[in-house]
Amino acid sequence: MAMTPRSVGLGMAILATFATWTVLFLPGLTAPNTPSDIVRPLTPKERLGRVLYIKNGCIACHSQYVRPTDWDYSGLRVSQRGDYIYDRPHLLGSERTGPDLSQEGGQHTDDWQIAHFINPRYPRPASIMPRFSFLSPNEMDALVAYVQSLGGKMADQRMARQRHWHKLLVAAYHRGADYNASYLRSLVPPQWSTMPNPYPATQVAVAQGRFVYEQMCINCHGPLGDGNGPAAEWLDPKPFNFTLLKRHRWSGGLIYYQVMNGITGSAMPYFKEDLESAKIWDVANYVAVHFIGKNIDSGNDLNGIPVSRESAPPAEHEPYPGAKPHPVAPSPYPPPQPPLPPHPP
Ligand code: HEC
Ligand code: HEC
Repeated sequence: MAMTPRSVGLGMAILATFATWTVLFLPGLTAPNTPSDIVRPLTPKERLGRVLYIKNGCIACHSQYVRPTDWDYSGLRVSQRGDYIYDRPHLLGSERTGPDLSQEGGQHTDDWQIAHFINPRYPRPASIMPRFSFLSPNEMDALVAYVQSLGGKMADQRMARQRHWHKLLVAAYHRGADYNASYLRSLVPPQWSTMPNPYPATQVAVAQGRFVYEQMCINCHGPLGDGNGPAAEWLDPKPFNFTLLKRHRWSGGLIYYQVMNGITGSAMPYFKEDLESAKIWDVANYVAVHFIGKNIDSGNDLNGIPVSRESAPPAEHEPYPGAKPHPVAPSPYPPPQPPLPPHPP
């Protein structure tokens, strides 16, 4: 057959029809159109939040679709067709200037979300997301409700966990600063809350810790570490005042554990997705030197125990649901440690 413009045009038309049919229509006609195990309809307030999400162009920077190849925290679950059954028009998105939001619900408390919408630089000092402080209180409430619903029943479970701990933390916080400090400490497994910081507080370590603090912590905990960053106005319980620890028992391991896992129920996020072990130990040293009053360059933990980098337990030793047990090197610290208790569900 001769390659005339006509035959080429015809060939192209056939190919395009075939591709459209197999990619667009065939899956639509054959795949089962049933709700997935996690999907639920939105409440009226969440629906209003969704309208605001569309109006404010959130989709320009956020997707709500996790492909099998994605593996950041939103990759908690690969999206399924049935997740979108109530989603008209769908908000899959394709642009990821910000993180995917399909499992955003319950990742943070409501107060974190509000502080973040008022000014994303409050909880995330280096963020490039625009601020949405012009929303009315009702609109803000609805937008937060919508964002907290993302992830369907999985989000509902995470929210239930946040609310459970939120109540306890608020009660502890309002009983007074010293009670709160002891309460927070009691939530940390003892082998962490007594573990010295294995990274000596050298000039370099503390300078690196300062960088992390300024990138991640400063607008909540404040430049003086007293919990008076600009985000504090929006948060309850307020960010922790590190200078309190001058009169409490504490250790590098206590700070490490709380930074790694966050404090569920408060705005204090978990950083195990953002920071490697070394950076968490460094920021713990920075907090110790600048806010609690530990000496720089001591080569020792505050408790006088000589420490070395080689003995630092890496973050992946922290168990998570479904994790295979990780071989743990023998601890250099006395006394012998009991095995870690299971991580709270
Ligand atoms: C210009 C791009 C941009 C726009 C527009 C935008 N965001 Fe973001 N968003 C980001 C970036 C970047 C981040 C990551 C840094 C941060 O947390 O602020 C982010 C983070 C977030 C997070 C936190 C995710 C986490 O880490 O848990 C939420 C929730 C969020 N955005 C919701 C929204 C909503 C709702 C809107 C619309 C009202 C919106 N964003 C508009 C860029 C954007
Ligand atoms: C969005 C605000 C926010 C950010 C960002 C934040 N924190 Fe917090 N942090 C809190 C809040 C709120 C609490 C107190 C919770 C309570 O009292 O129940 C807290 C508590 C803590 C505690 C517990 C102190 C103790 O002795 O029990 C440590 C340690 C801590 N934060 C370290 C950090 C570090 C280091 C960073 C940065 C890597 C950081 N936080 C970032 C809000 C924040």
